[in-house]
Amino acid sequence: MIPELTIVVPTLNERDNIEPLVARLRRVLDGVVWDVVFVDDDSRDGTLEALHSLARQDERIRYIQRIGRSGLSSACLEGMAASSAPYLAVIDADLQHDEALLPRMLETLKQGGTDLVVGSRYLEGGGVGGWSKTRRWLSRFSTVLSRLVLRTRLSDPLSGYFMLTRELRDRALRKVSGRGFKILLDLVASVDGPVRAVELPYTFGLRRAGESKLDTLVAYEFALVLAHKLFGRVVPVRFVMFVAVGALGAVVHLGLLGYFFLIVGTPFLLAQTVAAIAAMTLNYSVNNVFTYRDNRLAGRDYVTGLALFFVICSVGAFANIRIAEYLFENGIPWWGAGLLGATLGAVWNYAVSSTFVWSRRRV
Ligand code: GDD
Ligand code: MN
Repeated sequence: MIPELTIVVPTLNERDNIEPLVARLRRVLDGVVWDVVFVDDDSRDGTLEALHSLARQDERIRYIQRIGRSGLSSACLEGMAASSAPYLAVIDADLQHDEALLPRMLETLKQGGTDLVVGSRYLEGGGVGGWSKTRRWLSRFSTVLSRLVLRTRLSDPLSGYFMLTRELRDRALRKVSGRGFKILLDLVASVDGPVRAVELPYTFGLRRAGESKLDTLVAYEFALVLAHKLFGRVVPVRFVMFVAVGALGAVVHLGLLGYFFLIVGTPFLLAQTVAAIAAMTLNYSVNNVFTYRDNRLAGRDYVTGLALFFVICSVGAFANIRIAEYLFENGIPWWGAGLLGATLGAVWNYAVSSTFVWSRRRV
């Protein structure tokens, strides 16, 4: 039978949670025509094998094995794109989301007049279990902030547990950024016009097996989504980060140069070379962790990426110096010439490295 509800489950190293989740879905969705699409980002812990063996037994269980792309939001979007059902749900694999809510979510949407049903931890009757004080506080803070910036009235806009109509997805489809992991926030912020949302309270459970991937840098990724929605149309957020990292690199460069040249007594050329290599390596590493977090390089890719980054930045530095020199000789004041040269260098470094270092298809 053709499913009326597709459950999308993003997975990254969730081997031991797959079977229990499927068992629970079978139980609560008894009487509903449903299917499930797991979207796995190349887990190496046996998740894929678990999915494969289940999928061979039950046609309602499907999975997408993603190679060379990653990220929670984009995984959810891809799962939705693999469904033709009129209702779509997203739920975590680790059983922290109370699956017993699914039938009520579906009922609510089927009654009409509602585009979206969100499982909320902050509604009367909901809650968070076993969270550290810091995480609790961060979560509250981000929630308030996103309500202000995005003007949504949802009590839990960062929830990763929700169900929506196909129409709502279609309205958001061409505008969602798909970056980071705030898929609900991203979807709601991408829709023109009102979203008729209903929230249902639930208690966020304890993770069953495996570990959380979002605990660290949650606040950071969240700030990125907000910045993207606020300023993304004017200047790309990534470019701003890239420049900020570059500025940090320049400070480190000067510090090291001063140390080696003035204090250690290293000849200038050698001191300058050491400082430049250290600053570029630092810039590369920081960009790899923050600016291109969703495309992070590791292992051998990390080393080849670094080599490529050196080459690109050297060209950028050369262009920067020659252009600045040319402008200066043609009557532009020293600071104007310097600034233009540096801007050109930064744009070059950014454009070329984001294309060739961090978005090469890695298979
Ligand atoms: N495909 C894919 N790719 N899945 C991922 C990725 C990824 O890069 N990162 C995480 N996942 C999967 C996990 O396997 C899990 O099923 C789900 O996404 C949520 O990840 P967790 O690591 O368990 O997140 P959490 O419990 O810390 O965060 C929860 O709270 C957030 C709000 O504070 C989740 O419900 C989030 O969705 C929610 O935004
Ligand atoms: Mn979790």
